[in-house]
Amino acid sequence: MARYTAVARALHWAIAVLILLNLALGFAHDAFPKDWAVMPVHKSIGLTILALTLLRIVWRLVHPAPRLPAAMPLWEKGAAHATHFLFYALMLILPLSGWIMTSAGTRPLNWFLLFDVPKFGVGKEDAIVGLSRGAHELLPWLWAALIAIHVGAALRHHLVLKDDVLRRML
Ligand code: HEM
Ligand code: HEM
Repeated sequence: MARYTAVARALHWAIAVLILLNLALGFAHDAFPKDWAVMPVHKSIGLTILALTLLRIVWRLVHPAPRLPAAMPLWEKGAAHATHFLFYALMLILPLSGWIMTSAGTRPLNWFLLFDVPKFGVGKEDAIVGLSRGAHELLPWLWAALIAIHVGAALRHHLVLKDDVLRRML
């Protein structure tokens, strides 16, 4: 069975866990006690996702994905490729929009208190900041819905179609 490379699998699962964590921290941040510093952790995790995603994209360009099962209908292959492409876009746009939003604010930005992260030279009135704010509010909902479909599709392949699609990523 042709599988994703070990590096691709490790990056897929590490990034997936970090994204689920950050979606949860983002959606629920108001529910946490004010002194828990939830948002600094959210930002640090988000920047980690961005760095790992850049690595993952380079790796992916050098190591093509294994072929999908020949029996898979063309529209399903198309839907899978479109979703995966969108996921890569979201893995870049969500952290970048957060970084841009944060750059317009006064709070310090660092990576788990270990080192300062530079801010973009943007101000609250800039159009890119408003755009980032809108994107950062809307896109997580789209992403959560697509992740549910992605997981549903993976489980359908494994449990109903009983092919190797999930196993190649394990
Ligand atoms: C893949 C990475 C990320 C995901 C999935 C994510 C997701 C979210 C979600 C779901 C929210 C709540 C949105 C809402 O209340 O409507 C949020 C809020 C926020 N995120 Fe992120 N985020 C990511 C990365 C980042 C990064 C890298 C930064 C900054 C460096 C950041 C800064 C913020 C801030 C400041 C808020 C609060 C917005 C507010 O309520 O005013 N995020 N994020
Ligand atoms: C936040 C969550 C997740 C994200 C952002 C995500 C993202 C991705 C991306 C971008 C790919 C395409 C890889 C490539 O060809 O370059 C992929 C493939 C895959 N993912 Fe996920 N994933 C997530 C969670 C999951 C979960 C929970 C499962 C299983 C239950 C899963 C199962 C798979 C499988 C089986 C593939 C391979 C599909 C194929 O062979 O074409 N993913 N994922």
